[in-house]
Amino acid sequence: MKSDPLIPARVYHEFASGLKYPGFGYNGSSPGPTIRVRRGETFDKTISNELDAVTTVHWHGLVLPSDADGHPADTLAPGFEKRISFPLVQRAALNWYHPHPHESTGAQAWGGLAGFFVVEDDEEDALRLPGGDRELLLAIRDAQINASGDFFYPNVLAGSEGDFPVINGVPWPRARLGNQFYRLRILNAANARVFRLYSQAPLILIGNDGGLLDQPSELDVIEIGPAERIDVLLDLRTIKPGRTIGLDCDASGWRLLQIDIVETTRDPWQPPKQLSQITRLEHSGAPDRVFRFENDQRINGREYNMALTDFVVPFGKVERWRFESSGGAPHPIHVHGTHFQVQSRQGGRNRIMPWEKGWKDTVLMWAQESIEVLVAFDQYEGRYLLHCHKLEHEDHGMMMNFVVSRNPVEAAERAENERLFGPLCITPAA
Ligand code: C2O
Ligand code: CU
Ligand code: CU
Repeated sequence: MKSDPLIPARVYHEFASGLKYPGFGYNGSSPGPTIRVRRGETFDKTISNELDAVTTVHWHGLVLPSDADGHPADTLAPGFEKRISFPLVQRAALNWYHPHPHESTGAQAWGGLAGFFVVEDDEEDALRLPGGDRELLLAIRDAQINASGDFFYPNVLAGSEGDFPVINGVPWPRARLGNQFYRLRILNAANARVFRLYSQAPLILIGNDGGLLDQPSELDVIEIGPAERIDVLLDLRTIKPGRTIGLDCDASGWRLLQIDIVETTRDPWQPPKQLSQITRLEHSGAPDRVFRFENDQRINGREYNMALTDFVVPFGKVERWRFESSGGAPHPIHVHGTHFQVQSRQGGRNRIMPWEKGWKDTVLMWAQESIEVLVAFDQYEGRYLLHCHKLEHEDHGMMMNFVVSRNPVEAAERAENERLFGPLCITPAA
């Protein structure tokens, strides 16, 4: 399946009417084109870098071979192209793509580089969830215009936050929606800001990063950190046409989306009681690894070195990972190329939140908290990343490379040699 190339380039944002703010986008827009692929299909894309800087495109949430992952070491220079291709081997979910160049992910993402990547499958189709214009994909972020009137990147080590909300490129957006069920598929596309979402209409959580949860649950507030996704049904049947409500954030106090309710024809559809079946990963032992996220730039005392392998994970083995916070929180912790299951949270909130059940690829850790997850890599050997998705933490070194291998002993020896003598693998044979 040959499709148009994906082109990161400069675009203009219209954050105020009649004014154009230089930023970045894909194929002329921010967010970029929405990609929809069904499980079982092969995704094939040429990326053509028209920025004047090095970039990579990372497919966040997708299970794929390392050479397609958009790892920071796999750079695409200005004017260059790269073709990637991989089969969709995972369940339906809202994923996304964004840049991942070492030390400038924050600036490029802040500039507007992001896009949705939707995976569909038969299991999800069977639920007949609201679709068409009743399915809204929302990339929520914050932005800032400085005193001289420029859209500029504050680049604050502790996390860059803006002072107004932007959904799908539009500041302070509004929508006219019928008094019906809507499916809101929400991505926190901010560099660092955590949103706490609520509405005057019932919010029914049905899914998250890794797709559908087993059962729906009605929630008063849902908190999402950078890179996390939630899938919710907004029940507008309860709201009188003519009224205005919101999708609001009780952390910032912002009305993220103003919703004007209009009369519409009734659809008898009801959310199903059972959405999916989540197979639990099993591992009863102590943590296999512990990761301490320290202040703004270190994991276990180390800053990221793009050329080295920090640890090796045996292919196919279920491991228990423990994440600990030691300053600089919140840390949205992300693992590339797989999904994990959150087992426990100690300290802080002391429990697993409803939107952290099922399968996740990013989990939010506040100060004083430690979190245990079960994770396995059973599709591809190769090079992976673990990092904090607060983009300023990521850019300043809060990342680790790891290798998944069927020969973990050999892979660990090689990693050690590279640590001592430099990365041997990139020396071409004479
Ligand atoms: Cu969305 Cu390595 O991240
Ligand atoms: Cu990722
Ligand atoms: Cu962090």
